[in-house]
Amino acid sequence: MDHIEWGSLPFGYQKTDYNVRSYFREGEWGKLEISSSEFVSVHMAATGLHYGQQAFEGLKAYMGKDGKVRLFRWEENAKRMQDSANGIMMAVPPSELFKEAVFNAVRLNKDYIPPYGTGASLYIRPLLFGSGARVGVKPADEYLFLVFVSPVGPYFKEGFNPVSIMVSREYDRAAPKGTGKYKVGGNYAASLKIGEIAHHEGFASVLFLDANEKKYIDEAGPANFFAIKGNSYITPLSESILPSITNKSLMTLAEDMGLKVERRKIAIEELSEFDEVGACGTAAVISPIRRIADVENGTEWNYCLDGKAGEKSSQLYHRLIDIQYGDAEDKFGWTTVVDL
Ligand SMILES: Cc1ncc(COP(=O)(O)O)c(C=O)c1O
Repeated sequence: MDHIEWGSLPFGYQKTDYNVRSYFREGEWGKLEISSSEFVSVHMAATGLHYGQQAFEGLKAYMGKDGKVRLFRWEENAKRMQDSANGIMMAVPPSELFKEAVFNAVRLNKDYIPPYGTGASLYIRPLLFGSGARVGVKPADEYLFLVFVSPVGPYFKEGFNPVSIMVSREYDRAAPKGTGKYKVGGNYAASLKIGEIAHHEGFASVLFLDANEKKYIDEAGPANFFAIKGNSYITPLSESILPSITNKSLMTLAEDMGLKVERRKIAIEELSEFDEVGACGTAAVISPIRRIADVENGTEWNYCLDGKAGEKSSQLYHRLIDIQYGDAEDKFGWTTVVDL
């Protein structure tokens, strides 16, 4: 393995030594196989290529000061992948298989787990897709479930520094009764064009509104949205957003800090009433937001006027990462130590 500059890792793909794979064939999942190839051989008529039968997950392994490697709420990722699989008619990987694959992928690549204190972690990417051939629009009868890992640095180059985002009015990522609540590739494909436009205009990400009325806040690019107003933690209730495990954890921590948690529709006009706003997800944990621009409507909202993240967002961020890295008591039982 080449020397890795842990402190300056991007959030990107980095080759590691192994990945693990299991095929679903003739109605059952096969034994987990270890592979050292970065490639998969796929039938040209696979439904994963044609009809979007594809789902993925993202979670991280964190190296603690105590030398222990912890996974954060992997059972929630297993459940969400199962929901995604059910949602688009794919074979469902059982939790035991998910666990075996994730833990083995970490163990086999233990040299790539970034050391404590570098701000980096080992990103774990479970992937499931229809590998069976079909020409008519029908679910496949064969699937491949694989897990690879990659050491990563922070998602936003700004780190835990406030970012600017742009309201998307011309593009939706998901329909109200569509696949927005599943982690399937199609949702991300739908977000790419506006994402690129936003980057080109100097924004870190996009704020999607509800596709039906364009009145309510849905998600912030590949992250959930939350706001702090007085003593409340407010986050959208919507059937077209991904149920974020980070957001679920922040809601628990917010309650534990004595905040009131409100999960409800958030009208875009409410942005003027919030003290702090942020995006949350595995990749960035929390990205505090300093500016939201609704370019088409000529409106913008500004936060973090002193240039720093808000007080409650900072507290939530530190509480969560301290649990993930094993620096604080895991009082909710969220982490699992991986025996290396
Ligand atoms: C669309 C979308 N929303 C929200 C999230 C955050 O979810 P989680 O906190 O489980 O990573 C992600 C990333 O995983 C995402 O892709």
